[in-house]
Amino acid sequence: MSRSFLSLSSLTREEFNALIDRAIAGKKNPSAWGRPLEGKSIALFFEKPSTRTRLSFEVAVYQLGGQPLVLTGQDLQISRGEDIADTARVMRRYLHGIMGRVRSHETLEALASYSGIPVINGLSDKFHPCQALADYMTLRENSVPAGSRFVFCGDGSSNMAHSLILGSAHYGCEIVIATPAELLPAADVLTIAARLGGKVSITQDAKAAAKDADVLYTDVWVSMGEEAQAYEKKKLLAPYQLNESLLAQAKKSVIVLHCLPAHKDEEITESVFESPNAKIFDQAENRLHAQKAVLEFLLK
Ligand code: CP
Ligand code: NVA
Repeated sequence: MSRSFLSLSSLTREEFNALIDRAIAGKKNPSAWGRPLEGKSIALFFEKPSTRTRLSFEVAVYQLGGQPLVLTGQDLQISRGEDIADTARVMRRYLHGIMGRVRSHETLEALASYSGIPVINGLSDKFHPCQALADYMTLRENSVPAGSRFVFCGDGSSNMAHSLILGSAHYGCEIVIATPAELLPAADVLTIAARLGGKVSITQDAKAAAKDADVLYTDVWVSMGEEAQAYEKKKLLAPYQLNESLLAQAKKSVIVLHCLPAHKDEEITESVFESPNAKIFDQAENRLHAQKAVLEFLLK
């Protein structure tokens, strides 16, 4: 069975850092990539909407010389009840890799185990490792050193919080999760982070968390598929808005990140989103470069 990329915990620290170095080098000199996917076909499978993941993967596969095949659940016989196991066993006969954005993380695990070809997590309910890799690439580009203070304000139980926690262990920064007691990170993620040598703390006090931050990060309060909990989550997360008063607590050199899409004046104020500290669109661009590094690593 080929190697997949479903979570940052499947990488060693050395591999994580090498992917970031490769992405930064490829961003500076795109011709250095060559065409490692020449003759290869990669499915880009979406059970949920996407702007960045869809665009960056389709462009990345094309620029690396491969054929991207965008498929939504509606296009496939999955919509009429064909199961993932059979779909995956068919996919392996035609394809060289699969990127999947899925409702349940277990769908990715099944795709990987039944297809045997590399599967890349383009977001599940549990993790969003491609986004986190691009985020830590953005830290490296902004010379944020190991040992720095990375503060995530928002839903600590979300896919983004989980992947940022695991990435912090590889990057070597301290991560502070400012989140309500009702939305703590999953215990198994904290256990893996500890095993990887991560330094994670959790607090309900966003202002104290933001003090001397080198990085301030937030994500939507209501993730895709959680629309039924929108009212409750917005109420719980209101004290965790990334606003001017939190920004004032952080270091002058703080970088502000958001994986996008943003709901302005919910999880982040318009003024913080537009502030000179925000590196949000570099972060979005870096999806393309970081994913090229992942595709090359798994499929070359
Ligand atoms: N950040 C991110 O994954 O964006 P999309 O949902 O638009 O792909
Ligand atoms: N937590 C968000 C991330 C979007 C990129 C969601 O799952 O909708």
